[in-house]
Amino acid sequence: MADKDGLKVAKDYHVDTAFANQGSFHVKGANNLDWGMKKHLSNIFDPVSGNTVMFAFDHGYFMGSTAGLERLDLVIPKLQEQVDVFMGTRGALRTCVSPAFKKGIALRVTSGSSMLNDDLSHEVVAVDIEDAIRMNADCIAVQTFIGADGQLSSIDNLSKCINAGMRYSIPTLGVVAVGKQMERTPRFFKLATRIVAEMGASLVKTYYCDDFEEIVAACPVPIVVAGGKKLPEPEALEMAYRSMQGGARGLDMGRNIFQSEHPVEMAKAIRMIVHHGATDKEAYEFYLDATKSGK
Ligand code: 5RP
Repeated sequence: MADKDGLKVAKDYHVDTAFANQGSFHVKGANNLDWGMKKHLSNIFDPVSGNTVMFAFDHGYFMGSTAGLERLDLVIPKLQEQVDVFMGTRGALRTCVSPAFKKGIALRVTSGSSMLNDDLSHEVVAVDIEDAIRMNADCIAVQTFIGADGQLSSIDNLSKCINAGMRYSIPTLGVVAVGKQMERTPRFFKLATRIVAEMGASLVKTYYCDDFEEIVAACPVPIVVAGGKKLPEPEALEMAYRSMQGGARGLDMGRNIFQSEHPVEMAKAIRMIVHHGATDKEAYEFYLDATKSGK
């Protein structure tokens, strides 16, 4: 096994060179996967733009009723036209999302944390693959804590989910968690995203940071960016734009949508950036105009 001493610093990311094994399928790293995996990935990543707008409302799995998500039943249905994928827990999806919802489902399958304890890094796989199949999930989402006390157990959770997902052609979304003691640095995110991808995840969720294009280049599967804490709309849209310019294949926003004063218009503005090449300024102009006239 390689040891940590004397490791040379990686530096040649060839950020301007396209992924060599793209093949004919529109999702990075999926060229050699089977039909079922590709079908699920096509339900997540639009075949035309290659990108996705995910709406994350899985916060309740450890935060309980979060500001803006007090009433899942009122918030979620409003956004179904604007997003490509709903990311939620099985409880939220089964109780508040119509089975007639025709878009992608990212099913949160790990849990075990709550806001009442400091160490969030020890989770378990709470949803088995049979329930993911029953819900026709397009991917199963696994929180992964690299560098935290729960690193081994979370990589074990990730591997178990990938193993089960491969058996039934359901992709795994590896969610890079940033615990309190972790640093949101390019070095950390390069390490964490690559570990998750090398474990076999078909897509990775992480946060935007400096040198983001190097993180994307070094990760052999698509990266989707989480929004993080609520920002003023212009800043959130700028982060979305920078993420897409840096090579992200989508955004998975929660708080920056459901805590916005105008969630639907904010989701539309994000969609402009993700699928239609709008700049953050153009998207914000739209947001201001739409919220002024109540479009
Ligand atoms: C919560 C999550 C969320 O899915 C992810 O963080 C996206 O939500 P937000 O944009 O609010 O950060 O993993 O644990």
